[in-house]
Amino acid sequence: MPIADRVHEVRKEVAELVSAAPTPQDLMREMVKVLHERMLKYNWVGFYLLEPGAQPPMLVLGAFEGAMTPHTRIPLNQGICGAAASSGQTVVVDDVSKDPRYLACSLETRSEIVVPVFVHGKVVGELDVDSHFPAAFTPEHQELVQYCALLVGKKMEASGQ
Ligand code: SME
Repeated sequence: MPIADRVHEVRKEVAELVSAAPTPQDLMREMVKVLHERMLKYNWVGFYLLEPGAQPPMLVLGAFEGAMTPHTRIPLNQGICGAAASSGQTVVVDDVSKDPRYLACSLETRSEIVVPVFVHGKVVGELDVDSHFPAAFTPEHQELVQYCALLVGKKMEASGQ
């Protein structure tokens, strides 16, 4: 199946999860499953959420699919994850071996995307996807992962978070 068709299908599937999921936590759990199963190059998919009230701010691992990572708590000044959360910008790394910020989760990881999740304009966490393939996150993929992060932020807003 061409990638554009696959992205289109998965976009519909994740959108359907929003109304089916009772809580944002349920939505994140179901979303990482769909992305990991359906997007063949998404070898690790997970959410990190900012710990409420933590000083200094800390990203804490939430729902994920893939091998357990040693990085369950990440300060904002570390990693690709810290860079995305502190800047509020999507970070795409085509070759993690060339990025000094990179914190290794799996030796097989070659590329990574991290997209912040916003609630009422503030970063509350992020969606992180790792791939065993170099430069896996082309613009179509970036758009899909950003859409997923947007859905979670909207669900959090709708649930009063
Ligand atoms: N690679 C991330 C750490 C998280 S693991 O990939 C799951 C980073 O550099 O922040």
